[in-house]
Amino acid sequence: MTATESGSAEATTGVPFTLNGTDLEAEDGELLIEACERNGVHIPRFCYHNRMRPVGMCRMCLVEVDTGRGPSLQPSCMLPVTPEMKVETESEATKQAQDGVLEFLLTNHPLDCPVCDKGGECPLQDNAYAFGPGESRFVEEKRHYEKPIPISDLVHLDRERCILCDRCTRFASEVAGDPLIHFIDRGSSTQVNTFPDHPFSSYFSGNTVQICPVGALTAAPYRFKARPWDLDAVESTATVDASGARVVLQSSQNRVVRMLGVDSDAVNWSWLSDKDRFSYEAANSENRITEPMVRSGDGFRPTRWTDAARAAARAMRIDPDRVAVIGGARLSLESQYAWAKLVKGVVGTDHVDAQLGDGLPAALALGLPRATIDEVCRPGGIIVLMAADPKEELATLYLRIRHAVVEDGATLIEITPRETSLSDLAAISLRSSPGTVGQVLAAIAEERLDDAVGSVDSLQLRRTRSMLTGNRPVSVVYGRSNLAESARYTADAVGGLRRICPDAVYLPALRRSNINGALEMGLTPGFLPGGVRNREPFVDHWASTPDFEGKDTDGILRAAVAGEIDTLVLLGADPIDDFPDSHLAREAFEHIDTVIAVDSFKTASSSRADIFLPVAMYGEADGTFCNAEARLSPLSAKVTAPGLARPDWMIAAELSAAIGPDLGFDSLDGLRAEMSAIVPSLVAVDWSALATADDGPLLRSERNWDLEFGDAASAPPSSSYGLRLVVDRKLWDMGTMVQNSPSLAGLPQRAELHLSPSDVHLMDVVDNDFVTIDQGDISFDLPFVIDPTVAPRTAWLPARLPGFDVRELLSAGRSITNIRVRGPEST
Ligand code: SF4
Ligand code: SF4
Ligand code: FES
Repeated sequence: MTATESGSAEATTGVPFTLNGTDLEAEDGELLIEACERNGVHIPRFCYHNRMRPVGMCRMCLVEVDTGRGPSLQPSCMLPVTPEMKVETESEATKQAQDGVLEFLLTNHPLDCPVCDKGGECPLQDNAYAFGPGESRFVEEKRHYEKPIPISDLVHLDRERCILCDRCTRFASEVAGDPLIHFIDRGSSTQVNTFPDHPFSSYFSGNTVQICPVGALTAAPYRFKARPWDLDAVESTATVDASGARVVLQSSQNRVVRMLGVDSDAVNWSWLSDKDRFSYEAANSENRITEPMVRSGDGFRPTRWTDAARAAARAMRIDPDRVAVIGGARLSLESQYAWAKLVKGVVGTDHVDAQLGDGLPAALALGLPRATIDEVCRPGGIIVLMAADPKEELATLYLRIRHAVVEDGATLIEITPRETSLSDLAAISLRSSPGTVGQVLAAIAEERLDDAVGSVDSLQLRRTRSMLTGNRPVSVVYGRSNLAESARYTADAVGGLRRICPDAVYLPALRRSNINGALEMGLTPGFLPGGVRNREPFVDHWASTPDFEGKDTDGILRAAVAGEIDTLVLLGADPIDDFPDSHLAREAFEHIDTVIAVDSFKTASSSRADIFLPVAMYGEADGTFCNAEARLSPLSAKVTAPGLARPDWMIAAELSAAIGPDLGFDSLDGLRAEMSAIVPSLVAVDWSALATADDGPLLRSERNWDLEFGDAASAPPSSSYGLRLVVDRKLWDMGTMVQNSPSLAGLPQRAELHLSPSDVHLMDVVDNDFVTIDQGDISFDLPFVIDPTVAPRTAWLPARLPGFDVRELLSAGRSITNIRVRGPEST
C-alpha cells in the first residue's frame, strides 16, 4: 500500500516478487521475462517477441519459479508475474535447462556460421556462447534440406538453420494478416515453408527476416553484401510513404546496404513494408544523375554547378506570376523551408504545389484537428477509414490499425468505394459509389436515415449514426480513395463527419513521402511556413512574400497550356507520369519555355528539362521528416552523395544567391535557427535531440480555423456509360524508387480491369479475356478479372501499372469518371 497526499491509503498496482533473492515489483499482468528485463536481468529467448503473442515454442527462457508449491522450471515468456513469486534465473536447474535446450537446438543445426548472413549478430550463436554447454554429445548425421530456397522474390529460406521458433509464421498471420508461411509436416520433419504455388508474396515479408533469430530467412537484396562488423549504422526515418516509420540505415563501403525497423512506440513498432525496407537500392542505382546538366539538342551535356545555377536563376528571375514549382514532398523539412523561402520570398511566386492533383485541399489537411497514430489506434476507439487502402498507400499505418481492431477492441467503420485489406475486420462497410460519399455523410449528419443513398441502405446509415454519436472516441483516417473523382467529395464527407461527431480527430492519409512537411512549410498555394497566411512574422526574415494567391498543380498545368507559365521547376516531381490527367500534363510541357529539374533520375518529366540539378538522395543528407500525424523524426546522412549531387536546401541557397538576395543561411544549423525563429510550432524543437528522441515531438499549432463546408455536392447522373471508375495505387507500381531498385522493379503486376461479378455476368466474357473500355473518344483493350471486392456498377483499375496507364482515361476537369466496358464481340 502507498499513502496518497491526502493521507488515505490506496492499493498499489505493483505485483511483489523476488528475483534472484531481491524483492521487486512487476506491473500488473506483466510477463516474467519482461519484468526481469525491466529490472536488468536478461533471460535468453528465441520465440518471444514483445510485439506478438507469446507461444512458448523454444523453451530457451526456462527459469526456476516457485509460486508456493515448490520450485519448477517454467517458460518466463508465458508466465505473468504473480504475488510472492520467487524466481531464480541463475540456479543450477535453470542453467541445466538452458544447456539442454541449446544442445537440442544444435543437434540438427548446420555448421554454417562462416557463410551465414546472421553470423556476428546471431542470437543462437550468442546464446550458445553465453548459456550453452560448450560441447555437443551429438555425433549422428544432421537433417538436410535443399538450401536455400527462394520463398518469394525478396526472401530466401534455409530450413536447416530454422529453429522452429514460430516468429515468422506468427508475424505473417497475426501482424500482417498474410498467413502465407506455415509449419508443415510433423515430428522431426517439421519445417517452415510456403504452400506449393503460393509464394510468400506479402508486402511485409522483410520483417520476418529481421525477427528470425537465426539465418534461416535472409533478404535477397542483402545476402552476402556485408558482415555485421563491417556495418556503420545511424537512425533515420523511412520516406517511401507518409507513415514515418523509424529505421536504422546500415552502410558498408559508403553504400547503404540494409535498413532495419526501429521499435518506435508511437509509430511503427519496428515493422516496415518491403518498400520501406528495400527501396534504398535506388540510391545505389547506375541510373542516378550525379552532375549538373543542361539541354543540348535532344539530350543533355554536363556543366559546372555555377553555370547551371546561373542559367536556372536567369529563368526564375522573371515576372513571378510566370514561374511555377511542382513537387517538394521528397524534401526534408529544412529543404522544404529553404525552397519555400526561395520561391515565395525571393522569386515571389505563389504557384507552388507539392501535391500532384491526388491530395487534399491544403486548408483541410492543415486545419483539421490532427490525430496521432496512437489516438487512431486507441483501445476501444472508433476508427473511420475514408481513404484508399492503407495497406497499399501507408503500409505501416495499416499494421497499426489492424492490431488495434484485432487485439485492442477498436471498431472500424469503412467508407470506401471498394473493399480494402481491412474490410474483413470492419464492423460497418459503407460502399459509397464514386461521387456519393459526401451525400452519405450529409444524410447521416442530417438524420435522413429512411432512404438509401446510392448503394448505402437505410440500416447502414442508422447503424453508422448510432455508432458515431455514441460516447466512444472517434478518429478519422481521411484521404482520396479514388483518383477518378474530385477531391471535393472527400471534403464534403469531412464536412458531414464534423457535424456528426464534432470532437473527432483526423489523420490525413496523404501517401507521398514528406508531403505533410511540405504543407507545413508552405509548399502549397496560399500558405507560408507554419501553415499560416499571415505574412507578419516573415517581414524581418524574407525579402518579400507573394502578392497573389497561386495555383495548384492542376491550375499550373492549365496556365502552362494557356501560355501563362514560362518557367517550371520540378522538385523531385514527375507530373507527366504522376499527375492524374496525363493528357493535360503532357500538353503543358509543350508550352513551357524552361523546365528546371531538381532530381536524381531522368523521368518522363525531368528528361524534358532544360536544366538538371542533381540532388543528394535518401541517406545522403541530414534533415527532418514530418509524418502523417505531424511528428518530427530525423533523416540522417550515412553515406556521401555521389558525384556533384547536393542536398536540396543547398541548391535553394545557391539559386537564391544567384537571383539575389541570398537566403541568409549557409548551414543546416543556421537554417534550423531561422525556422525556429519564424515558425511558432518549431520554436520548442530541439533539433539536435531529434536523432536520439524515442518518438519525436509533434508539430501542433493553434490554428482555430473555422473551416467552412458547403452542401454536399451531388455526383453527376449516370450516363450511357455504365460503370463508375475507381482508381487508386498499389504498393508496387512504376514509380521512380521502385523502378530503380533492382530487387523491386519486377514486382508491379500487369494492369487489369477489376469488375464486379454481377457486372461481368451481364457481359459475354470470361476471366482474363480482353475487354474494350470506352471513355468519350478513347478506347482501350485491356485484360480484366472478376473481383468480388469491387462494388457493383463500378470498375477498379490501379494507376501506374505495367501494360496500361489508367490516367489515359482521366481528365482533371471531370468530377467522376464513367466508362463503358464491352466484351470482345460487342460494338
Ligand atoms: Fe551460425 Fe547463427 Fe547462422 Fe546458425 S544461424 S549458422 S548459429 S550464424
Ligand atoms: Fe523461427 Fe526463423 Fe524458423 Fe521462422 S524461419 S520459425 S523465424 S527460426
Ligand atoms: Fe519463452 Fe521461447 S522465449 S519459450
